Amino acid sequence: MNAAVSPVLEARALSRRFGGYFAVAEMNLTVDKRSIHAVIGPNGAGKTTLFNLITGVLPPTMGDILVEGTQVAGSRPDRIARLGVVRTFQGVRLFPSMSALENVLVGRFCRTRGGYLAAFTRIPGKAGVTEAASRRRAEELLERVGLASRRHMRASELALADQRRLEIARALATDPQLLLLDEPVAGMNPVEVQEAGELFKSLRDEGITILLTEHHMSLVMAISDQITVMSYGRKIAEGTPEVIQRDPQVLAAYLGSEATS
Ligand SMILES: Nc1ncnc2c1ncn2[C@@H]1O[C@H](COP(=O)(O)OP(=O)(O)O)[C@@H](O)[C@H]1O
Ligand SMILES: [Mg+2]
Repeated sequence: MNAAVSPVLEARALSRRFGGYFAVAEMNLTVDKRSIHAVIGPNGAGKTTLFNLITGVLPPTMGDILVEGTQVAGSRPDRIARLGVVRTFQGVRLFPSMSALENVLVGRFCRTRGGYLAAFTRIPGKAGVTEAASRRRAEELLERVGLASRRHMRASELALADQRRLEIARALATDPQLLLLDEPVAGMNPVEVQEAGELFKSLRDEGITILLTEHHMSLVMAISDQITVMSYGRKIAEGTPEVIQRDPQVLAAYLGSEATS
């Protein structure tokens, strides 16, 4: 590993058991700053559970999670979010009856005021200086993800691909240092996938670290700096796209005939 690059996230021997089953088993993961790091693996491999552990949605059964060296295993999601670790969900979780702009403002207010409750009580109020600045920033972020013209539409009226973009804009509104994206391009058409890939690369180039799960292999191979492959809760391979594409264990466990043909 390049000693000049410090990790933003480290998981050590991280495990999570559900009943008698380890959904995540002794996972070690190092995510370098300013990288795009993909976690891939078949359905049920433990990718979403891993994200739930990292973001505090679930406590680990065992193991350490370090955000820039600070132990966060078992911490509440809001503490982890304050350290700049922010996620989107595999199923979109927006406020359906709020506009796109309001959804981003919620993310923004979470950063500036302390929580969703504060966000809800502030939005209908008179716009002060901070609110005006937040609104400008929210509009910039919507522009960034390609939703400027749809900013007044209700989240529920947006197409699925636009809802995913909106989730990313909302996450960006919290000024994350590590953005976790759980299957961010699922349901997108090829042009939308391409645009999303460009967005992820430009975010990385601006200094945001991205950890993503994705089944869209050509996207993963095109944009990732590092890939970790999971199967049955365990890491079975790790490396650059070039290395992973040639790893026989990966081909057997995951890519199967699609990759070997
Ligand atoms: N809350 C839960 N309770 C019980 N089992 C769970 C829970 N969440 C996930 N699992 C199980 O853990 C395994 C990994 O699931 P998941 O992390 O969603 O995998 P992936 O995201 O890679 O598809 C699956 O067998 C799943 O059924
Ligand atoms: Mg999942």
